Amino acid sequence: MRIIQISDTHHSVAHPYFSENVAATTRWLTGMEADLIIHTGDLAMDGAADPSDLALGAQWIRDTSREMLVVPGNHDVGDHVAIKPTQQVDDSRLEQWRATVGPDFWSVDRGGWRLIGLDSMLMGTGHKEEGRQFEWFADALDTTRPIAVFLHKPLFIDHPEEGPRGYWTVTPEPRRTLLALMAKADIRLVASGHLHIHRHYQHGETDFVWGPASSFVVGESQEELGGDRLLGAVIHDFSDKGVSSSFVRPEGVEDLLIEPVGHLIYAES
Ligand SMILES: [Fe+2]
Ligand SMILES: [Fe+2]
Repeated sequence: MRIIQISDTHHSVAHPYFSENVAATTRWLTGMEADLIIHTGDLAMDGAADPSDLALGAQWIRDTSREMLVVPGNHDVGDHVAIKPTQQVDDSRLEQWRATVGPDFWSVDRGGWRLIGLDSMLMGTGHKEEGRQFEWFADALDTTRPIAVFLHKPLFIDHPEEGPRGYWTVTPEPRRTLLALMAKADIRLVASGHLHIHRHYQHGETDFVWGPASSFVVGESQEELGGDRLLGAVIHDFSDKGVSSSFVRPEGVEDLLIEPVGHLIYAES
């Protein structure tokens, strides 16, 4: 079974500065054989403020004519109040996502594997859906199948026990809850987005893969986090022996920085 992971397309009606990169990625995707596409969030540039960006992303998914599962990012449904007070995850943003794109957490069984998508934006928020997702996740982990988990924010940067990493990861408390649940299951892969960086490392029996973005990379406004600040995608090949993940660079993408235009995009949100 082959799954292609793409991430952080950041579709925008008002600010299409990176649309050529998404177009190049889409052309590449069209020519690729895969059983499933998984998008690890930030489908929209500013969907938490402007639903038309989410609608544009949803239209792009339909236009690809490929089976695609998506988890939401901070720019789709908002973020933790401590990170983004003006764009908190709330009922209306979650409803907007679910109505426009689909479920924000999901599980499918394919090729002998269980694939689980999580809404990392709920984690640490105290929203009632956070607890519901954890209960659902515990049930979803109750399987003899090997498991791959997909979510937007990575659980950690370098180590599961590390302290808070601010904007860049799930906060320590929900991370501990997740890791305690995951310790009882056969988790082989945790694949995330959000950082616009590709990185691949192992902890225990689990591969952690940061999916690169399809839109832009972050320059000086992102501290050194390891990995490679390159646009691209990841091919995950699953077998009964495990999963093999490789970085791919679609022809025609250009590593544009967010900094020159970031103030125009997120000025009011
Ligand atoms: Fe992003
Ligand atoms: Fe993000």
